[in-house]
Amino acid sequence: MATHSRIIGTGGYLPEKILTNADLEKLVDTSDEWIRDRTGIEQRHIAAEDEHTVDLAEQASRRAMSAAGVNPADIDLIVVATTTSDQVFPSTACLLQSRLDIHGCAAFDIQAVCTGFVYALSVADKFVQTGSAKCALVVGAETFSRIIDWTDRNTCVLFGDGAGAVVLKADQSPGILSTHLHADGDYAKLLHVPSGVSNNYPAVQEGRAFVEMQGSEVFKMAVKKLGSIVDETLQANGLERGDIDWLVPHQANVRIITATAKKLRMSMDRVVMTVAKHGNTSAASIPLALDSAVRSGSIKTGDKMLLEGFGGGFTWGSALVQY
Ligand code: ACO
Repeated sequence: MATHSRIIGTGGYLPEKILTNADLEKLVDTSDEWIRDRTGIEQRHIAAEDEHTVDLAEQASRRAMSAAGVNPADIDLIVVATTTSDQVFPSTACLLQSRLDIHGCAAFDIQAVCTGFVYALSVADKFVQTGSAKCALVVGAETFSRIIDWTDRNTCVLFGDGAGAVVLKADQSPGILSTHLHADGDYAKLLHVPSGVSNNYPAVQEGRAFVEMQGSEVFKMAVKKLGSIVDETLQANGLERGDIDWLVPHQANVRIITATAKKLRMSMDRVVMTVAKHGNTSAASIPLALDSAVRSGSIKTGDKMLLEGFGGGFTWGSALVQY
């Protein structure tokens, strides 16, 4: 009998400090009205100065493990999706492993920016399916505020910090039904941080390594690629649009989410929407949205949900999941 992976617990964590649109009006030439109209965002959470990606990841992971009823000793794989790791190395996954008092299992980071969680879930699912892991901790965690130029109104209004996590367990009945991952590096320059360790390192040292984005170009591609991945996912599973109970999208912009829901002919009350409360938290946004819908009782055991994301790279992907 084939082995599948199931999500058996979710967790989320948002830093305490809230930055509202009104706060941003004092930093850059913008308005609450513009931000709400163009993005749907009302506020975002910002990590404290001494709070790092691993701190956020730890909180979300503990909540997911508690919801799943598993102990540190049960976890035999840790995959963390992040763009904003604490250190160049070790990976945030290794730092998290130590925090959780887990020892010996494989632990590594995945970098696919806003699609990171879908990539991480897909990789962990394959470990479970092939018998290489039985109980995986999959995390999306970001302190995106650290790579934002807070004088650039084109980007600073969009992003926030946070973490989300799930525990994936081997099971005889399917939870993750399929995953589909894509990337096209030709679009790198439309959404990137142009400096890093090996390229223009002085910008990193001087704290000038910031997100640069051609917003409207990214917007158009996101709507196009998310539309095509909806078709690909439905087709691969022999499903019709009406067969999906919930859309759990990457939370970047209400207008992008609405366009994908329209493609699925899904009414907006079946779409999990948390972007208003925490903006775009990159790899953390899908597990945060999932956790909020599970904890509010909206998503129930047996529901079929489509997770989808689009981000820098470009990268895009989906996971069809039976909860
Ligand atoms: N406040 C007020 N005005 C602004 C602001 C702001 N914060 N930002 C831009 N503007 C202005 C622009 O300067 C422009 O002015 P102009 O017409 O005088 O030149 C005008 O508003 C319109 O700008 P556009 O960029 O055309 O606005 P658009 O409707 O495209 O909305 C937005 C911009 C919200 C950024 C949108 O393009 C978007 O959401 N893009 C996608 C972002 C995204 O999804 N990223 C996902 C992946 S993120 C990741 O992977 C890290």
